[in-house]
Amino acid sequence: MNSLSRRTFMQIGAGSVAAGATAKINFLEPAALWGAGRTVAPSDRVRFASIGTGTRGCELLTASLEVPGVECVAVCDLYDSRHEAAQEAVQKQVPATRNYKEILDRKDVDAVIVAVPDHQHRRVVVDACAAGKDVYCEKPMSHNVPDGFAIVAAVAKGNRIMQVGSQRVSSIVYEKARELYSSGALGEVFLIEGSSNRNSPSGAWIYPIPPDASEQTIDWNAFLVGAPQRPFDAARFFRWRCFADYGEGLAGDLFVHLLSGIHFVAGIDEVAQRAQTTGGLFRWKDGRDFPDVIETVYDYPNFRVSLYCNLNNSIESGEPIKFQGTKGTMELLNQTLTFTPQDIASKPETYSTKGWPARLRKQYLADWAAQNPQPTPLEYQTKVRAEIFTAPDGYSDVSAHQANFFDSVRTRKRPVENEVFGNHTAIGCHLANYAYFNKTIATWDAGAKTIKG
Ligand SMILES: NC(=O)c1ccc[n+]([C@@H]2O[C@H](COP(=O)([O-])OP(=O)(O)OC[C@H]3O[C@@H](n4cnc5c(N)ncnc54)[C@H](O)[C@@H]3O)[C@@H](O)[C@H]2O)c1
Repeated sequence: MNSLSRRTFMQIGAGSVAAGATAKINFLEPAALWGAGRTVAPSDRVRFASIGTGTRGCELLTASLEVPGVECVAVCDLYDSRHEAAQEAVQKQVPATRNYKEILDRKDVDAVIVAVPDHQHRRVVVDACAAGKDVYCEKPMSHNVPDGFAIVAAVAKGNRIMQVGSQRVSSIVYEKARELYSSGALGEVFLIEGSSNRNSPSGAWIYPIPPDASEQTIDWNAFLVGAPQRPFDAARFFRWRCFADYGEGLAGDLFVHLLSGIHFVAGIDEVAQRAQTTGGLFRWKDGRDFPDVIETVYDYPNFRVSLYCNLNNSIESGEPIKFQGTKGTMELLNQTLTFTPQDIASKPETYSTKGWPARLRKQYLADWAAQNPQPTPLEYQTKVRAEIFTAPDGYSDVSAHQANFFDSVRTRKRPVENEVFGNHTAIGCHLANYAYFNKTIATWDAGAKTIKG
């Protein structure tokens, strides 16, 4: 059975629908995007190693078990207990080390998965490219603008395949959305909005510190490379997202997923022109550098993008993205796409004519009816219907994204979320933070490759 054909269509909304009132979506069969559905010849097996086997690294190792034709041959992490966690995740006693250069020296490693904190992406990726390894690097690709361009240059110099880790870009739901967007069914889209919200200590990155964490079990000095020196601090090691030395707060953690999804669906291959941000640190005042509410409006040539994250309320959960078109709205939420056409059938004006005397209103309605013989009054009492597409049960965009990367390693065809794509969306995160911290409108100067206030 082709699991990809298990589409779910639902039509919601009651009432009689006039012929032609609802644009019919042509949901074509998705291409074979699901990792689990592919076959790979034994000679095409890719041997990879994981650098950084914390939360995400382990998630990726588990997901790699679903990807055909790949084999994990080594793992690397600065914290010893994560060697054990990685071996459990990949269900194999692969060699483990604290020093990623040992892995890069191995001739039998084709590719590396890099899931280290953001301030270390540049160093590890540049070294991996120089060692001739293809790279899957977690999002956001860069910790700052110069890091992003250094990574782009290293990939080009080493002639490597690189994919960044915003998995929505490989999702069959987002592929559907891209198809629908480019079909014109939405009309013209001038505003896209997205959000990602949470309401818990874990959501605010206050992760528990394991009982064996110490300077003996963690290579603290290696963690600090690329960041200011400071004494061992387990909170900084395990909750690095809160601190600007290592992460980029909500923008780098969550905006990047929204931006990657939007760029993919709308076919954007550039950096936003400018960003305006507001927000504040209202609740999680634990010494962190970043706000717990952030709202940014981006200018792109043909539309605006409005994003927010709130760590204090999660009634709007998941990562909703709404593409608001003149003919319809497309909403992406987790594994579901909903398309709701706008009711744009022409109708006589009924609002401003409330201020007219009855005789003029009557005359206007008679004139309107004469000039618009169709539709009849009954037909324009319609309710629009929504159409919904959901991914098949058990579908994982995480394994799909990895499968796409490993396919690129085999075919040498650049993945969609390559280093240039990843650089564009990461710069979007840096624009948001620049605007917030400098209380200014952040403008992208593409010629100078820099952000200006
Ligand atoms: N795509 C997603 O949905 C997603 C989800 C979570 C995290 N991430 C990204 O994954 C990356 C890791 O995040 P995490 O939540 O797993 O963090 P984490 O703190 O749980 O794990 C990071 C690990 O990297 C290790 N590390 C740091 N520097 C290293 C080095 N030089 N060599 C080897 N290991 C090193 C640390 O010891 C740590 O165990 C980040 O870039 C994050 O933004 C992506």
